[in-house]
Amino acid sequence: MENKDNKFLIDDLSFRYENSVEKTLKNLKISLKKGEVHLLLGDSGSGKSTFINILSGIIPNDILGEVEGELIYKNVDILKNDIQKRAKDIGIVFQNLDSSF
Ligand SMILES: Nc1ncnc2c1ncn2[C@@H]1O[C@H](COP(=O)(O)OP(=O)(O)OP(=O)(O)O)[C@@H](O)[C@H]1O
Ligand SMILES: [Mg+2]
Repeated sequence: MENKDNKFLIDDLSFRYENSVEKTLKNLKISLKKGEVHLLLGDSGSGKSTFINILSGIIPNDILGEVEGELIYKNVDILKNDIQKRAKDIGIVFQNLDSSF
């Protein structure tokens, strides 16, 4: 069987902001391996920040909406973990470092 311990799998991830009719993200499927570096590229408004906020848990904990799908890390769906537990695996470095510390 394939070793999924060093993979981060985004499986069928969709998201709709609470105050929106349309989904902002639809059925994303991405497989990331330990040690890889990825660039997320897209037009303004295409959903980059939305995606990153879902990974970190800012969505839907602080910004409300409906998340569907799974984020599988070390064979566990971390969407089901609370935000404190998830923060041990996922962190964000913001654009303006001076305001982050
Ligand atoms: N809190 C919110 N409530 C409702 N809609 C939102 C909210 N935040 C963002 N959106 C909408 O979701 C879509 C994706 O926005 P997002 O900010 O994720 O795009 P982005 O790719 O990060 O853009 P940029 O390159 O300008 O940073 C846009 O249509 C935006 O208007
Ligand atoms: Mg953005």
